[in-house]
Amino acid sequence: MTTDDGGLYAALLRRGISRRAFLEFAAAMTAALALPAAYAPRVAAAVAASPRLPVVWLRGLDCGGGTEAFLRAARPTASELLLDLLSLEYHETLMTAAGEAATAARAGLASRFPGGYVAVLEGAVPTADGGAACTVGGRPFGDVAAEVTRDARFTIAVGSCAAYGGVAAASGSPTGARPVSGLVPGDRLVALPGCPVNTDNVVATIVHWLTFRQLPVTDGRRRPLFAYGGLVHNQCERRAHFEFGEFVQAWGDEAAQKGWCLYKMGCKGPETYANCPTVRFAEGASWPVQAGHGCVGCTMPGSWDAMLPAYRRLPGIVPLAPEVTIDQVGQVLVGGVGAMTVVHGAASVARARYRARRARSVAGPTAAATPRPEEPAPAVEPDPAEPAVEPTPAVEP
Ligand code: SF4
Ligand code: F3S
Repeated sequence: MTTDDGGLYAALLRRGISRRAFLEFAAAMTAALALPAAYAPRVAAAVAASPRLPVVWLRGLDCGGGTEAFLRAARPTASELLLDLLSLEYHETLMTAAGEAATAARAGLASRFPGGYVAVLEGAVPTADGGAACTVGGRPFGDVAAEVTRDARFTIAVGSCAAYGGVAAASGSPTGARPVSGLVPGDRLVALPGCPVNTDNVVATIVHWLTFRQLPVTDGRRRPLFAYGGLVHNQCERRAHFEFGEFVQAWGDEAAQKGWCLYKMGCKGPETYANCPTVRFAEGASWPVQAGHGCVGCTMPGSWDAMLPAYRRLPGIVPLAPEVTIDQVGQVLVGGVGAMTVVHGAASVARARYRARRARSVAGPTAAATPRPEEPAPAVEPDPAEPAVEPTPAVEP
């Protein structure tokens, strides 16, 4: 499963990448993998000693966002590392070959790389009309992808289209788009949803394999826990504002300038599993919420239907409700808004009764109608003028 050209570290040196930059990269990947910092030397040693990995990258029904992210990765030397860490044997967008020459580059992979290779699938698989919505060299993409992944050591599904069907599978699509999971045995597949995928998670997945010679631990949808094991909301730097009921009410208002919580502006962080707040994008410079825009839940199944409208808030999350933790809220939300409504209703009633009792006992019945200054901020009640967000399909956290 290698190419014999001196290995990764030699390739890095040829590109003039310093050892310091390489060690910084190893430390960043160790952090992305949610490993203790003490693992960084082991990661660095394993990656430095690793030969380059042959990669065959196929694109199905997609916009090319995963490829764009791949090319624009800015983590120190990440794109160079990717191009050196991997021996990109086939990529229709990046290769110079076309037509029959391109098809020939895809032939004989098993014999050329007897130890296997890595398949990367970007985009969904069309199934309607014989897969006519996406063909490669005149063949349905699904057939070509099945052929390529059959002999691959493992397959990485990059982006939400490959992982779930994505926008191509959104309501009304005539393509019959499906995720690539139907083509690849589960134990040889890692899914990295996102729109686009975070390239750091792609690199971290490969680094994990180079370091431990096994794929990272995943959930039921084959998403690695190091990247999709936690709620965006629980890692968000604006979380304290959520807890204190400090919300942006309109784009550009004073609260927005202060960096308060974007929940009321439609942020889906409370029901989205991803590591965006910690890994971030663009060399760790920023991520959507830091840039002032709510999370739209792009890493979640069916986000193009279930997470819209993007700028409407979800009904019924109650900041500071003592009866409901946000973890419970997240679990309930992904289980369905109906159940959430029940929880919210129970929480609201319990809290209202608690406040009424407290007000009566402390200050008498008149004060009960007026919140005390030191009391928590008012709960966020659903706005009847806003339609409810569609239920989110159940997922395993
Ligand atoms: Fe951050 Fe959004 Fe959660 Fe607010 S609702 S704390 S902006 S993730
Ligand atoms: Fe997507 Fe939300 Fe991260 S929109 S990029 S999962 S912050």
